[in-house]
Amino acid sequence: MAERNSGDIDDLLRETRRFPPSPAIRAQAHVRDEAIYEDAARDPQAFWARMAAELEWSRPWDAILDWQPPHAKWFVGGRLNASVNCLDRHLRGARRNKAAIVWEGEPGDRRTLTYFDLYREVSAFANVLKALGVRKGDRVAIYLPLVPELAVAMLACARIGAVHNVVFGGFSAESLRDRINDSTCRLLVTADGGYRRGHVVPLKQVADEAVAGAPSIEHVIVVQRIGAAAPVAMSPGRDRWYHELMADAPGACAPEPMDAEDMLYILYTSGTTGKPKGIVHTTGGYLVGTSATTKLVFDLRDEDVYWCTADIGWVTGHSYVVYGPLANGATCVMYEGAPDWPAKDRFWSIIERHGVTILYTAPTAIRAFMRWGAEWPARHDLSTLRLLGSVGEPINPEAWMWYHHHIGGDRCPVLDTWWQTETGAIMIAPLPGVTTLKPGSATRPFPGISAEIRNQRGDAVQVGGGLLALTRPWPSMLRGIYGDPDRFLRQYWSTWGPGVYVTGDGAKRDADGDFWLLGRVDDVINVAGHRLGTMEVESALVDHAGVAEAAVVGKAHEIKGQAIAAFVTLKEGIGMTPALADALKEHVVRKIGAIARPDDILFTADLPKTRSGKIMRRLLRDIAEGKALGDTTTLADPAVVARLKANYEEEYG
Ligand code: WT7
Repeated sequence: MAERNSGDIDDLLRETRRFPPSPAIRAQAHVRDEAIYEDAARDPQAFWARMAAELEWSRPWDAILDWQPPHAKWFVGGRLNASVNCLDRHLRGARRNKAAIVWEGEPGDRRTLTYFDLYREVSAFANVLKALGVRKGDRVAIYLPLVPELAVAMLACARIGAVHNVVFGGFSAESLRDRINDSTCRLLVTADGGYRRGHVVPLKQVADEAVAGAPSIEHVIVVQRIGAAAPVAMSPGRDRWYHELMADAPGACAPEPMDAEDMLYILYTSGTTGKPKGIVHTTGGYLVGTSATTKLVFDLRDEDVYWCTADIGWVTGHSYVVYGPLANGATCVMYEGAPDWPAKDRFWSIIERHGVTILYTAPTAIRAFMRWGAEWPARHDLSTLRLLGSVGEPINPEAWMWYHHHIGGDRCPVLDTWWQTETGAIMIAPLPGVTTLKPGSATRPFPGISAEIRNQRGDAVQVGGGLLALTRPWPSMLRGIYGDPDRFLRQYWSTWGPGVYVTGDGAKRDADGDFWLLGRVDDVINVAGHRLGTMEVESALVDHAGVAEAAVVGKAHEIKGQAIAAFVTLKEGIGMTPALADALKEHVVRKIGAIARPDDILFTADLPKTRSGKIMRRLLRDIAEGKALGDTTTLADPAVVARLKANYEEEYG
């Protein structure tokens, strides 16, 4: 699923149906012909400058780009404020009274904030932050459920020039603590809890545990989401209620004029080592990239009701729940909870209730819907939908076709969008009025983006498979890894020289020039659209007193794309019991969070290694997936693998 190879794509291409843009879509699209691609290719900087000109700048830029590979400065000398671009500038016309956020809580509660409401709330919270001593450049950690206050807190930081560091609400206390400490945040915004499948997630409790080990935190602001049902301990002097602070806060706050290259946020993401990387995004380029892609890929119109189902704790939520759509003045649906709560039609009921026109979700969700059956969407009127998007992992053609057939129907193009936390915005995706779609392909680079397939030697492959590289700078590109400039160079820019960005993904280009993503080629796995480092999970396992060594691989999973399989060797005298396997799973959840819970734990006396001592991950993956063993002659002890495989099959059949 998430793992596929070039041969599979060849087979696909022979059978694949093509979907050219329908006359109805073309007739209204912002972009209807190839000219935009040609113009952008001729002069990419001029193209981005045209996109940037759609934003509001308090000082114009002196130069579009200063590129000292791999260091880019975009819109040099320009000044702007992200919250002004997402809020204030919409207040001058009819958008003032338009819904900005249409929110549903999991229990069914609802809130709608107009652009004016959101502007007032953001300004007031900006004043709250200032009153607590937060200044331009300070880091603020945000650990919230998907409530409107999450967007408010981000935009309030942006308004005063503070740097937000949003941590997904499913991460553990330790993960939260490490992310706060790595960027020395002064303040934490959290909630008394959030709802997930009817249960209360005790965020404040987790936050307290994290803050106990985070000396830089001076204040904790607590949003009251649950109330009486989840009483929380408030530490006097340190903890303050959001609603109490907001009651006295003035609703206007002058925005800080930010340099285009001032930091907007840090977002931690997994890499190939045990330590997550703080990806740094700046203000001007990021806003240009996210606003331009939102407008053109989703072909946004003022009457749209746009729903990106991602949690704001991930980059998809930063770029396509908050900054991209709000910069475009869109009405954005937000939903706090699970797709099967209270029943398996929750998404479809939300679409019907709010008249959603654009749905942007993940293949893992689509595959879950397929499994639940087409009778669930069939109960609802989905006729308002006009565009469907997909992101997070390769979408398999079966899921694409199901999405097309059961959700969108013939009137809705299905847009697969490839990008990463590091790229900030969509890099490879169709434009609905122009591009002929192929189920399973993300099609072509966005205008102004230059993507190539390269072989190991670094030669560009015109047609065929290899490694995906981005060969030109783009405005929303990461500017660094917070506090770790060496890792930034090593990780992204050292393979083919400092001007070529290494994505970490394998891809194939077909004879039409369309791209087919094949999955990660490094030690990163993608579980239900969420990126995890195998080393992170391994470190969590080895942290357990009984574990000697661990090797973690992603194995193909029908719904999640990949699932975690862990091979574990125990210390002398520790018994390989099912109870210990469960305890190890819990240990990983406690260390990282529930998203990292291994599906399978297999105990083994030894791990298969090459003579140089490298763990043979591909072999482990094949074993976990029950595939053929292949050539094992390079193993230090070939008997090990045969034993592993036998054990594995016995356990998981
Ligand atoms: C990795 C980035 C982009 C926001 C969500 C994930 C994989 C993402 C696609 C796609 C194939 C995809 C890649 C990428 N990925 N979208 N449309 N087709 N693969 O952001 O956590 O930074 O993960 O997700 O492997 O490198 P992320």
